Amino acid sequence: MQLKNDRYLRALLKQPVDVTPVWMMRQAGRYLPEYKATRAEAGDFMALCKNAELACEVTLQPLRRFDLDAAILFSDILTIPDAMGLGLYFETGEGPRFKRTVDSAAMVKQLPIPDPEQELQYVMNAVRTIRRELKGEVPLIGFSGSPWTLATYMVEGGGSKAFTKIKKMLFAEPTVLHALLDKLADSVIVYLNAQIKAGAQSVMVFDTWGGVLSPRDYRDFSLQYMHKIVDGLIREHDGHKVPVTLFTKNGGMWLEAIAATGCDGVGLDWTIDIDVARARIGDKVALQGNMDPSMLYAQPQRIESEVATILAKYGHGSGHVFNLGHGIHLDVPPKNAKVFVDAVHRLSGQYHTK
Ligand code: CP3
Repeated sequence: MQLKNDRYLRALLKQPVDVTPVWMMRQAGRYLPEYKATRAEAGDFMALCKNAELACEVTLQPLRRFDLDAAILFSDILTIPDAMGLGLYFETGEGPRFKRTVDSAAMVKQLPIPDPEQELQYVMNAVRTIRRELKGEVPLIGFSGSPWTLATYMVEGGGSKAFTKIKKMLFAEPTVLHALLDKLADSVIVYLNAQIKAGAQSVMVFDTWGGVLSPRDYRDFSLQYMHKIVDGLIREHDGHKVPVTLFTKNGGMWLEAIAATGCDGVGLDWTIDIDVARARIGDKVALQGNMDPSMLYAQPQRIESEVATILAKYGHGSGHVFNLGHGIHLDVPPKNAKVFVDAVHRLSGQYHTK
């Protein structure tokens, strides 16, 4: 199917665009009152993820408000560990938790690789429903967590600040952790390929916690497994390229290594300047980012001047997907998100003329 707006895919493939495409990480979520209403209707967050019609509804909500160039599947990275049998639940105000944690070689061994059209079929149903309802307006992004980031939740039993349990496993029992990461990489490959077959037109891997590792450990315990994923993904479907973006939060030190995996796009947080990133890897890959999400608390003029600065830093030509450097905060006024999205389109045309 021909997309009405394919700027997002074109930018990732470094093909010419009229203006810079933009979307926001976590664009569907609690900062939108209509999201809260739909979640209440579903009962809770996982029930929302498991209901294809409602997951589709919340995916489309931000697109009705803002002129976004991509939709992202409404789901969560923790669907895979949940489908492996760990029992995901959300404690109000505390984020995700697991009933069972992974703490031994025996436990790793008995974890299944979930079948995406069985245990995770609700995700594929959401993808199919969203694709149908998008009616070719903008592309749909599918996603997964990176093996390392998924493993942090599975070993810690939830979110963490110091990552002591998984680092203990990393340093005291590295072979157990490698076995877990390898199984997760295999699970992510079949899961993302199933999303692509179900209709995702691009995929993104979120490595939220890769940045807590030393450079050596990042390479061995996070990047190596994302590389395996990139190698295992369907890169062309239905006659169209399926671009893949890797995002390691706090990964600015390792851009060359990330770009060398063969991915199409590299996500940047705000701790690196995008001109520096472009000089380092811009000949190989497209860049996604990288405004500090807290900038959306500022006055409209300040948001616009920051957008202008980032656009000027990237400079002329395609290869930039504008985004926040991490997810939008839940207390951001939606009107500020509109200022941001509109500014990207209004101010970027000058960088795409010949
Ligand atoms: O971007 C989007 O709009 C698509 C949906 C999406 C969600 N989670 C929905 C969600 C995506 C892409 C994710 C990814 C995700 N989930 C990551 C990687 C990206 C990142 O932000 O670093 C991580 C680490 C998770 C794990 C996770 N899920 C956490 C830490 C939380 C709690 C966060 C919070 O705000 O309470 C979740 C739950 C979650 N996932 C919510 C949403 C909208 C909030 C649930 C709710 O209360 O409604």
